[in-house]
Amino acid sequence: MASSQSFHQAYNKNKRWVSTSALFSFIFLLLFALSTFIIHWIDLSKVTSTTIFKTIEVLNNIKQQPQFPLNCNNETSNSTCPFSYPTTFHLNDDSPSSSCPNYFKWIHEDLKPWEKTGITREMVESGKNMSHFRLVVVNGKAYIDKFAKSYQTRDVFTIWGILQLLRLYPGKIPDLELMFQCGDKNVVDKKKFQGPENVSPPPIFHYCGDEDTLDIVFPDWTFWGWAELHIRPWETTLRNIQEGNKNVKWKDRTPYAFWKGNPAVSPIRKELEKCNASEEHDWNARIYDIQWQKERSKNFQDTKLENQCTYRYKIYAEGATWSVSEKYIIACDSMTMFIEPKYYDFFTRSLIPLQHYWPISAKNMCEEIKFAVDWGNAHLDKAQKIGEGGTNYIIDNLKMKFVYDYMFHLLNSYAKLLRFKPKIPEGAVEVCSESMACSLRGARKHFMVEGMVISPSDTPPCTMPSPYTTQTLHQFLQEKENLIGQVKTRAMNKEL
Ligand SMILES: *[C@@H]1O[C@H](CO)[C@@H](O)[C@H](O)[C@H]1NC(C)=O
Ligand SMILES: *[C@@H]1O[C@H](CO)[C@@H](O)[C@H](O)[C@H]1NC(C)=O
Ligand SMILES: *[C@@H]1O[C@H](CO)[C@@H](O)[C@H](O)[C@H]1NC(C)=O
Ligand SMILES: *[C@@H]1O[C@H](CO)[C@@H](O)[C@H](O)[C@H]1NC(C)=O
Repeated sequence: MASSQSFHQAYNKNKRWVSTSALFSFIFLLLFALSTFIIHWIDLSKVTSTTIFKTIEVLNNIKQQPQFPLNCNNETSNSTCPFSYPTTFHLNDDSPSSSCPNYFKWIHEDLKPWEKTGITREMVESGKNMSHFRLVVVNGKAYIDKFAKSYQTRDVFTIWGILQLLRLYPGKIPDLELMFQCGDKNVVDKKKFQGPENVSPPPIFHYCGDEDTLDIVFPDWTFWGWAELHIRPWETTLRNIQEGNKNVKWKDRTPYAFWKGNPAVSPIRKELEKCNASEEHDWNARIYDIQWQKERSKNFQDTKLENQCTYRYKIYAEGATWSVSEKYIIACDSMTMFIEPKYYDFFTRSLIPLQHYWPISAKNMCEEIKFAVDWGNAHLDKAQKIGEGGTNYIIDNLKMKFVYDYMFHLLNSYAKLLRFKPKIPEGAVEVCSESMACSLRGARKHFMVEGMVISPSDTPPCTMPSPYTTQTLHQFLQEKENLIGQVKTRAMNKEL
């Protein structure tokens, strides 16, 4: 017993001792660990933050080219071009190259008339009386020879865009001379060049084309801004529209077809006015006039593009020819209705009916609109999908990088056809961003700076898709016709 008792006592004593010392050592260890941890943590965080910082720096050095914002520092002259901007640039061989959107295929089609003959100086000169200016690029520098005044600042912002292209891909735009037409109307009449005399058409760059003309399609000035109407450069405008799209969800939008614009410029818009809801008829269309003079006095408060995405359906109606409004309308997430366009601009020929827009025949326009709205309101998900299809086409394919890439490929393909050596015209002045923008003020200056390219690209231009063959082109156009026919006969594919 005694032994067992002493054992117990010893055990208890022992246990007490063990637990006290364990407690002490535990606390000690804990403190030690804590302090070590804190020291290490401080060290670690220091190391980590410097490492992260260094990594960012390295990434920046790889990714970010040196920047060259507008340089208006020359006190003696606003019209001189600084020498500081790089004249060449090199990309790492492993820089990723994406493929260009499908609509780049049309570059081949637009240059087809000169594919066999090439382009001679005589052909270029014969377009002089139909052009507003001649652009010359020699050794990466741009020169402008102006022949006629264009409407508002169309020519100014078009030239600005070309200068930005030269900044994006310095040293990659070949020597060239080209004529540019800035009006609404197309100028190179196809019929005139199909006779037995076989005269070659003048190659003339312009903002739109159609079946009857041979104008070479080039992005319009609004991608760099429309100062007179307070429409900012495309990148900003698109971002604002996308923000605006979040204001009213598709299904909560007004269930009618909306159009707002200047009806005076085309017969089709005058017709469209007749589809406005009246006492007798409701064609499901809501049509609003804009008088730009009046809007100007209100500082364009009611014409903000980002506030015009509150209807489920939006109508696109051509003006005198194509209308720059097209991209803003399609970007709205609403289902776009195209009233049978006759003209196209550079990105619209690859739009597919019922995938990106709803085709409206110009005949029986009001009934067609009513039918489309009724169909959409009865098939909400499908109508919404067409709306999103159009918007995604714009977001994916009409990034500013692609707009420049289109210009890049078009100008390079054009220059390959030239059969003469481009030369700087007599008395021509070099133009650059500084010579154009430094002396300006107000919206024009603002927009130019906003849409300016300040570094050479860090990725190469996208790679061109192969041309259509006669057969694939025919097939593409046929499929489009079929879809339009389905809507006309109200026999839409079941699976739509
Ligand atoms: C500023 O402009 C003057 C006059 O054209 C020119 O001679 C001079 O080289 C320019 N200076 C700089 C720093 O570009
Ligand atoms: C432009 O000049 C060409 C001859 O070079 C002529 O055939 C054509 O009719 C003229 N066009 C206009 C619009 O004056
Ligand atoms: C269309 O109808 C609406 C509503 O009645 C009206 O506010 C608008 O001014 C009309 N549009 C035109 C172009 O007459
Ligand atoms: C250059 O432009 C600025 C405004 O951007 C103006 O204040 C200045 O007087 C101009 N300088 C010359 C020499 O024209």
